[in-house]
Amino acid sequence: MRSPDSSYDVQITHGRIPYSPCSVYSDTSTVGSSTPGRRRISVAARSVAGIFVRCFVPPETKISTFSVADSEEFKAPSVVSDGSRAGSERSRRGGSNRGVYATSNNSTHRREPGSVIFTMEEIFRATRNFSPSFKIGHGGFGTVYKGTLDNGTAVAVKRGKKSISQLDKHLGVEFQSEIRTLAQVEHLNLVKFYGCLEHEDERVVVVEYVSNGTLRDHLDCINGNILDLAARIDIATDVAHAITYLHMYTDHPIIHRDIKSSNILLTAHLRAKVADFGFARLAAETDSGATHVSTQVKGTAGYLDPEYLRTYQLTEKSDVYSFGVLLVEIVTGRRPIETNRELNERITAKWALNKFLEEDAISTLDPKLECTTANRSTFAKILELALQCLAPRRQNRPSMRRCAEILWGIRKDYRELTALDCHSLSSHSQRNASRREG
Ligand SMILES: Nc1ncnc2c1ncn2[C@@H]1O[C@H](COP(=O)(O)OP(=O)(O)O)[C@@H](O)[C@H]1O
Ligand SMILES: [Mg+2]
Repeated sequence: MRSPDSSYDVQITHGRIPYSPCSVYSDTSTVGSSTPGRRRISVAARSVAGIFVRCFVPPETKISTFSVADSEEFKAPSVVSDGSRAGSERSRRGGSNRGVYATSNNSTHRREPGSVIFTMEEIFRATRNFSPSFKIGHGGFGTVYKGTLDNGTAVAVKRGKKSISQLDKHLGVEFQSEIRTLAQVEHLNLVKFYGCLEHEDERVVVVEYVSNGTLRDHLDCINGNILDLAARIDIATDVAHAITYLHMYTDHPIIHRDIKSSNILLTAHLRAKVADFGFARLAAETDSGATHVSTQVKGTAGYLDPEYLRTYQLTEKSDVYSFGVLLVEIVTGRRPIETNRELNERITAKWALNKFLEEDAISTLDPKLECTTANRSTFAKILELALQCLAPRRQNRPSMRRCAEILWGIRKDYRELTALDCHSLSSHSQRNASRREG
């Protein structure tokens, strides 16, 4: 639900969230299992655990306050077409490896925001008049349909709700935000933008169709297949790359603001694509000395950065916090807020971190995953990274780029460990076979 509920808002934003001096975190810290590192993480875990209590709100509640002028919501810069600005951005961020994250953004296919305008007839043809049988999803913005363009391309068609009163204005802002962001970005791990339509009370966004459901669907096993840990690490890494791209490699840093498992779409090969840019907005221009943007709180309960909730100051690190919640979700399989559980298990991240402090983190591993040596040690590393992302103060959270690097290392180690597991398993079974033969 994207409708605002001021009672939640007041409850969250006016809660005094205790600040503890968490200098134990640093952007350069790595996830490892050394004792000092563990101690650091444990101290951090204690301060993180305290913060969840104040942030309890019902699950999947879309939060959107109305306190700040909407016109400020997304003042997208015009797309920079000469290389100079992009070049200075790159050098400012110290990144010369744009190619790692970017795809063909510098090609002649560069799109201006909203330049691909569909007609209502095309949209009707693509979706067979918004046939209910083509419905594939539903969210705060409206209903999503599968469609086929005249050239045969499979697309997802997001049709905005025709709502009334003040909400309408906000859905309009979301629509603008989504098309402006989508039109500027291009990355393998972001849904591709095909175009849009705004006509009278119709608002439609057309994006690439991603065929295999959401990450949440897969964690819930709705198609009967268990997502193994290797696939989960790949998905987390894909998401980290996508957010890194938004934070570092776009002409102006973009904050997604709604990173969560139901906004992560999976391809047939289980690669992840981040969707839903309805809450996206531009980050502060650090060249001008600004450290954050002050803006209304938007996001989904359970994933929201407590510091942003408290101060209304938004930075890229709010996405890092949400990513930390997502990592906990990926390894435990649980939703960030599980209202049907016992009180101490309702906020999944808090529960997992408390278990971590009790040195019983392994009991929070998704029961659907095998408890092999490789899975156990990799699970611990991912949980430690999540803990860093969930640091109460933003300066103690790693950058998204650092998260991607750490995950990359975790992935490499996991592959080596599983190869070892397989090796020892096959030599063990060979020994057994020769014993039987002997
Ligand atoms: N590109 C897509 N391909 C396939 N399914 C999609 C696509 N985009 C959205 N969906 C489905 O529709 C749901 C809602 O879409 P989303 O973009 O998150 O809209 P909202 O802004 O309303 O939350 C998603 O959770 C997903 O199930
Ligand atoms: Mg969504």
